[in-house]
Amino acid sequence: MAKRVVSGQRPTGRLHLGHYFGTLQKWVSLQDEYDCLFFVADWHALTTKYDDVGEIANDAREMVIDWLAVGLDPKKCFMYKQSEIPEVAELYLYLSMITPISWLERNPTYKEVLQELTGKDISTSGFLSYPILQTADIILPRGEVVPVGEDQLPHLELGREIVRRFNFLYGDYFAEPQSMLSPVKRLLGIDGRKMSKSYNNSIYLSDEPDTIRTKVNQMITDPARIKKTDAGSPDVCMVVYPMHQVYTPSEELQEIEVKCREAAWGCMACKRELADRIVESLTGFREKRAEIESAPGIVDEVLKEGLHQVRPICRATIKDVREKLNIR
Ligand code: TRP
Ligand code: SF4
Repeated sequence: MAKRVVSGQRPTGRLHLGHYFGTLQKWVSLQDEYDCLFFVADWHALTTKYDDVGEIANDAREMVIDWLAVGLDPKKCFMYKQSEIPEVAELYLYLSMITPISWLERNPTYKEVLQELTGKDISTSGFLSYPILQTADIILPRGEVVPVGEDQLPHLELGREIVRRFNFLYGDYFAEPQSMLSPVKRLLGIDGRKMSKSYNNSIYLSDEPDTIRTKVNQMITDPARIKKTDAGSPDVCMVVYPMHQVYTPSEELQEIEVKCREAAWGCMACKRELADRIVESLTGFREKRAEIESAPGIVDEVLKEGLHQVRPICRATIKDVREKLNIR
C-alpha cells in the first residue's frame, strides 16, 4: 500500500514563487505515488498572528485556490483545514503533557524566529509548543512521510522524539514519521532577501503578466555592472541569474552566462527573457485560477470532502490514544 504523506502550510494568502519551488511543486509530484493529505495549518498561523487574525480565513481560502490552480487534485489527495479537526487539539494536549520544555527551548528554528521577529511578542506557550502541534498534525492521521524544507527538520526530529516518548510511556503505537527532504531551489525576492510576503519582495503565482515584468525589472543584478558595456558576472547576480537557473534549460543558460560575461547583452534584455519565461510558465495556472474563482463553491467542497475522508481516521486514533492514557 502507498505510504501516507502528511504536510501542511500556514495560510499567508496568495502564494509566491518561493512557495511553489519550496513546497508545492513537490506536493504536486507526490500525489500520484503516495496517499497524500495536505492541510491548511491555520492554528499554526495563530502562533505568530494571534493579535492580527482578521485575514486568516481569507488567506486560507486564497491559498487553497492556489493549491488547486497549481495542480493539487482533489481526486488524488485530500485537502482540509487543521482547525476543522478538533482531535488535533486534543492530541496536542496529550503530547504537551509528555514533552519536556527543554526539548522545545533548544529547537534552533524556535531560537531563530524569536530573533527574527523582534517587533513582536511571541514569548508565548503556543509559539514555543509549535512543534508539538505539528507533531499532532502528522501522527494523528497516521502520517508516515513528511515532505518539508530544511528549516523544518528540527521540528520533525523533535516530533520523532515525542513519538518515541509516547511509545515508551504507553506502549508502541505511533510510527516515527520520516522526513522527505527535497533539494529546494531557494529563490530570492526581487531585493535579494528571502522571498517573503512580509518583505514585499515576492512574485506571486497569481500576479498579472505586466506585474511580473515590472517586478523582474526591479530585481537587483550584478552591482558592478552599470553600463551595458561592462562585463557582468552571473555569480554575483544574486537574483536574476539564479532564477534563470530555475526557468531556463541548461544549454540556453550557458548562452546567458556567456552573454553576461562578454557584455554581449544588457541586463534589461536578460530580464526580459526571464520575465517571458516566468509569465509563460504560469499560463496554465492563470487559466485554472480564473476558472476556480468563477465557481467559488469549489474550495468549500474540496475542503469538505477532505475533512469527510480524514476526520474518521483521526477519530479512530484519538479513541486508541484515550484508551492508552486511561481517559475513558
Ligand atoms: N511548520 C510548517 C511550516 O511552517 C507548517 C506545518 C504545520 C507542517 N504542521 C505541519 C508541515 C505538519 C508539515 C507537517 O511550513
Ligand atoms: Fe545578471 Fe543577466 Fe545582468 Fe548578467 S546580464 S548581471 S545575469 S541580469
